[in-house]
Amino acid sequence: MQLPGSKTVREVALGSETCFSTNIRWLIRRDIPTILKIEERSFDQMTAEDIITNLRQRNTIGMVIEHEEEIVGWMMYEHHKNHIHIIKLEVLDVKRGTGFGTLMIEKLKSKLNERKSCLTMMVDETNLIGQLFLRSNEFKAVSIEKDWAESGVDGIFFRFRNSRTE
Ligand SMILES: CC(C)(COP(=O)(O)OP(=O)(O)OC[C@H]1O[C@@H](n2cnc3c(N)ncnc32)[C@H](O)[C@@H]1OP(=O)(O)O)[C@@H](O)C(=O)NCCC(=O)NCCS
Repeated sequence: MQLPGSKTVREVALGSETCFSTNIRWLIRRDIPTILKIEERSFDQMTAEDIITNLRQRNTIGMVIEHEEEIVGWMMYEHHKNHIHIIKLEVLDVKRGTGFGTLMIEKLKSKLNERKSCLTMMVDETNLIGQLFLRSNEFKAVSIEKDWAESGVDGIFFRFRNSRTE
């Protein structure tokens, strides 16, 4: 989606212009029905119970991205000693391709420091768009995990290293 003046949502959100407000905040229980609607179109769907169970882990955080007060995506990640592992990152299907996924990755990159210097994510080998998305956000494929998904599909392990902290 191109915004007035040929700017994408991402350019507006990252720049100084405020005509469209984009906000990334902590996920709260009230968001779960909206997240489940986003999940309906996903091929590795999480249930409300999965989301709540994951969020009960002390090192697990959920966040949503809102655009003009509508939730347009969400992510869940785990803090580890040396890295942040992304469990889930998803954008509402009709809002894809406009930079919201990249904004969520940039939010996670901003959390890295000298000690915690990597982002990691496992992607189903059949998820080509997910792989292109991570590569465009400077992740590199580092290994393959056999039979990663329940369906027996292999997973590709991606990692982003923060060069600013090396
Ligand atoms: C993968 C996903 C999160 C991307 O979110 P998004 O907001 O649409 O991505 P962005 O608009 O920020 O795209 C950033 C870059 O990723 C790549 N990309 C994204 N969608 C793409 C597509 N359909 N085809 C090819 N490249 C694509 C492009 O390089 C794009 O840069 P460009 O716009 O300059 O060409 C989204 O498609 C999604 O929710 N998919 C289903 C869930 C999923 O697979 N999650 C795993 C994520 S690794």
